Amino acid sequence: MSFVVAIDGPAAAGKGTLARRIAEHYGFHHLDTGLTYRATAKALLDRGLPLDDEAVAEGMARELDLSGLDRAVLSRHEIGEAASKVAVMTPVRRALVEAQRRFSLKEPGAVLDGRDIGTVVCPGAPVKLYVTASPEVRAKRRLDEIVANGGNADYAAIFADVRTRDERDMARADSPLKPAQDAHLLDTSEMSIEAAFSAAKSIIDARLEQ
Ligand code: C5P
Repeated sequence: MSFVVAIDGPAAAGKGTLARRIAEHYGFHHLDTGLTYRATAKALLDRGLPLDDEAVAEGMARELDLSGLDRAVLSRHEIGEAASKVAVMTPVRRALVEAQRRFSLKEPGAVLDGRDIGTVVCPGAPVKLYVTASPEVRAKRRLDEIVANGGNADYAAIFADVRTRDERDMARADSPLKPAQDAHLLDTSEMSIEAAFSAAKSIIDARLEQ
């Protein structure tokens, strides 16, 4: 049976970096499930289709090919905004969750990161991590990332954006962002990626040894 590491948390908490690091260390497959919502939103935007038509959005979600997700293209800010709008639709979530569950069965193991992995997509995962950080720290990390990539942005605007997205993700009726009851909480506000990885590794190793 494949071993699943489920990682959830708000935007820019560091879960993507942690998930990639874990996947690399254990030789597991990795899926950033945010990219599946982003790709669905982008497909609608590219075709000039509305973001609020459930049947149309579900059709796009069902056609999605998980092997063709391009992080560089999908990481644009407007796509993230649009993604959190299509992510409130139950038919879209149902379609994407089915694809994500198929991915989670890959041998020898899979790391999935998102908002509802431990609660909805893989509730039976042997390891669940809920990675968080204060909104201030998350906004600062986003800003540093943009500047490092040669862009410029305004801290206040990014901070406002982080708060809006948190609210939308936590308040939605279907699969709101929240820690699973049996998730280990990792607050990375004051933690380096190495420290976060080492904490995660201890938890995973303990489960692998059982
Ligand atoms: O993590 P990322 O910023 O790429 O996610 C984009 C949006 O997709 C999130 O704001 C959230 O609304 C949605 N999402 C979700 N469930 C997931 C992953 C992402 O609803 N498992």
